[in-house]
This record gives sequence, C-alpha cells and structure tokens, in this order.
Amino acid sequence: MKISKLFLIALIVVVLAALVGCSQPTPPPAPAQEKPAAAEEKPAAPAEEKPAAAEEKPAAPAEKPKKTYKDLVVGFAQIGAESEWRNAETASIQETAKELGVTLKFSDAQQKQENQIKALRSFIAEKVDVIGIPPVVETGWETVFQEAKDAGIPIILIDRRAAVPEDLYVTFIGSDFVEEGRRAARTLAKIVDGKANIVELVGTVGSGPANDRAKGFREALEEFPDMKIIDSQSGDFTRDGGKKVMEAFLKKHGTNITAVYGHNDDMALGAIQAIEEAGLKPGQDIKIVSIDAVRGAFEAMIEGKLNATIECNPLLGPQFFETALKVVNGEEVPKWIPSKEDIYLPDNAKEILPTRKY
Ligand code: AHR
Repeated sequence: MKISKLFLIALIVVVLAALVGCSQPTPPPAPAQEKPAAAEEKPAAPAEEKPAAAEEKPAAPAEKPKKTYKDLVVGFAQIGAESEWRNAETASIQETAKELGVTLKFSDAQQKQENQIKALRSFIAEKVDVIGIPPVVETGWETVFQEAKDAGIPIILIDRRAAVPEDLYVTFIGSDFVEEGRRAARTLAKIVDGKANIVELVGTVGSGPANDRAKGFREALEEFPDMKIIDSQSGDFTRDGGKKVMEAFLKKHGTNITAVYGHNDDMALGAIQAIEEAGLKPGQDIKIVSIDAVRGAFEAMIEGKLNATIECNPLLGPQFFETALKVVNGEEVPKWIPSKEDIYLPDNAKEILPTRKY
C-alpha cells in the first residue's frame, strides 16, 4: 500500500512537470539582416569574365575644344581706301567682326604692297589665328606667305588673288573677275549695237581685277569685230585717276571716242566729270560701262550718265569670318568661295538704289 502511494505521487510530479514544459513561450525570430538580399545573392564576378580588350584599350585622347568667334584673333591687311567699293568692304569686315565678337587687327596699306607685307609680318609676330588679305597686286607674295605657313597661320585671300602655289593659302573668297570683264563687253555690245571705239580705264597695274577684267573683256570682244579698244591706261581704281586719264584720252582722240570701259565705277565716275568738262554728254555722246555697282553708279545711271554697271560684291565680312572659324577648327573649305553678282542697267536703277547697301 505504501509503495503504490509513493508511485502515484511520483506519477503526478512527472505529469505536472511535462505540462509546465509545454506552456513555455517560443523565442522571438532573428532580426532581418540590413544587407539587401540581392547584394547577398549576387555571386562575385570571376576575374576572367572581364573582356581582355577593355583592359588593353588606351584611354581616348581628349578632343581639342572647338574655337568660337569670341576666341578668334584675325589680322586683316586691307589695301587702302581707293574706292567706294573698298570702303564698303572695310565696313563689312569691321562691322561683322564686332557683331560676332571676333578680335580684329586691321591695317590699311595705303595701296602699297610693302605696307601689306609689313602688316603680315606684324600679324605673324602677334600670333593671330588667321590672316585675311586682298593682295594689292598678284605677284611678290611667296616669301611672306611662306613665313605665315611656317608659323602655322593660315592665309585667306579675300576679293583679290595672288600668283602663289596653292599650298600657301587656304582659300580665295571673291569674284570671277574674268567673267566680269566678259559681261562688261557683252553688255556694252548691246548698248552700242556691236560698234564702238572704246577707251579702257584700267585698274591698279598688276592687280588681279585689272589683269582679269582686261582679259575677259578682250575675250568677249572677239564676238564683235566692230568694237575696238583704241586706248588703254591705268587710273589706279580711283576717281581722280579716272578723271585724269579720261582728260588725256579726250585730248588725244577727241570725238573719235564712242565708249568707255571702266574697270571700276569710281574711275568711270571720274571720267564722267572729264567728259562733261569737255562739253560732251556722258551716257549719250559717249556710252559708259563699268564694274562694281556702287551707289554712285546707280545715281549716275538715274541721271542718264552711266549706261551699265556690272556687280562685284564687297560685302564679304560674313563669308570671311565663317570661313576663318572653319579653318581654325580644322574643317575643310573649298579652294574658291565665289560671291554672287548681277548686272544693272538704268531701267530700274531708281527702284534698286534704296536697296543698295554700298
Ligand atoms: O578688288 C576689287 C576691286 O578693287 C574693285 O573693283 C575696285 O573698286 C577696288 O578698288
């Protein structure tokens, strides 16, 4: 009996102990780890996966920054101020430089080649980016152009060409002077009905426009056997020069002269004065054709004193600086950038005059 009592007590203790063990709270879950699962999951890239080429490729050289108009320093060696045309060109260069923010170093050679050469040398010493020049005459430029080339300064010929090898300049911006001469001859032929005794007022001796305008005129004259050049002399592209030469022609040939061919308007305007002073009527007694199409020529056509003007455009500033910027930035430019031109007669001179910019 004693034993079974003891057994019962022991059994109760065991059962109670088991019940207490089952009611114990479960431990809290482990806190979430801060590292993003994705990062944990990504296996480390094996070293050999990296492409070999990427490792060997040298770093690309930094591209040279392009220059803008504001960075550009340009030297312009102008011929002088011998004509309305030349002044219009100077204004176009200076105004365009100002508008674009280009630094312009401008020099006026007073129609002397030696002064243009000096200007070029000082631009080279100042290390300008580009040099622009209308060479007063065609020859005698190789040495100084070579000096610019050796200094790495490109030369742009503007409005007049130079007789130099093509590698000494980057481009020529301007007119076809030979074609202007042909146009002048054909226009005059219409006015005089293919018959005339012509005196020729030649531009600066040795200059591109004088050489080419003489050549083109003669070339086209071959189509008109009754049109003859009876005399030819230089008035140096100036009004005063044109007047003096015309006075001499009138003295020598008198009323035998029936037509004047002026290599530019300024000389023709000077000749008009000489003809009037000789008691003759320019535009009637003596027909006159010249080249440039400046405002003074339109005024003379309106007054009936000039019979035609062949356009030669001096407003080259925008084309010049656009080309200069391309050249310093290493862009290709054509060897000749021609300007657009027209022929004007008295018929509509009044209408056109207000639209003329030079
Ligand atoms: O080079 C262009 C010529 O030079 C123009 O026809 C003339 O007027 C200027 O002086």
